[in-house]
Amino acid sequence: MLKKPIDVSVPLHALLEQRWSGRAYDKARTVAHEDLLALLEAARWSPSCYGEQPWRLLIWDRVKDPQAWQLAFDCLAEGNKMWAQDAPMLMLACASLLFSHNQQPNRWAEYDTGAASMSMSMQATALGLMVHQMGGFDALAIQDRFAIPAEYRCLAMLTVGYQLDADRIPDALRERELTPRSRKPLETLFFSGQWGQGVDLL
Ligand SMILES: Cc1cc2nc3c(=O)[nH]c(=O)nc-3n(C[C@H](O)[C@H](O)[C@H](O)COP(=O)(O)O)c2cc1C
Repeated sequence: MLKKPIDVSVPLHALLEQRWSGRAYDKARTVAHEDLLALLEAARWSPSCYGEQPWRLLIWDRVKDPQAWQLAFDCLAEGNKMWAQDAPMLMLACASLLFSHNQQPNRWAEYDTGAASMSMSMQATALGLMVHQMGGFDALAIQDRFAIPAEYRCLAMLTVGYQLDADRIPDALRERELTPRSRKPLETLFFSGQWGQGVDLL
């Protein structure tokens, strides 16, 4: 993956530094089945409240099932379609909203599903793959189109594939792909002892 330097106060694990949400996918490179399984195992071994494992992923492979891939792709927001068209694989992350042991609402289901998506993203980075999560899609349409039961909430679609080499990134994406990553300052996000008191950076 194209390496984007990030501004950190101390060094991070290489996987955390290297992961980023690129948009320029190499259409010609598909995801090997073994690598897909590694992504799914990474998600599967995420932590969850009560060990519920509320995440469910629906996966579409453009080569194996182009019709289904297209049906899923059509649910993306226009701005995402513009770049996601070259991704060989699409996924939908859904959360089961009820605990299986008592059928009561699981208010951590979305938290846990996001964590599983992040585990998968880290494994992808380790394999040289790129995952890009998207909130921009028609959740009602995809739920209906793929007959996803009402007790599951469709949270995010994800693209998976290999990034294009930097010198092959199309002009329409080049500026966005090369823009440095940025974050809010540490002390505005993380508090120590009391709300609003930024952590000590020294
Ligand atoms: C839940 C979620 C929804 C997102 N939705 C979109 C989206 O619809 N389109 C898009 O281009 N990026 C989307 N992103 C990617 C973010 O814009 C990206 O993660 C953020 O800008 C930080 O960049 P980085 O992942 O490269 O560090 C989404 C990310 C998350 C976690």
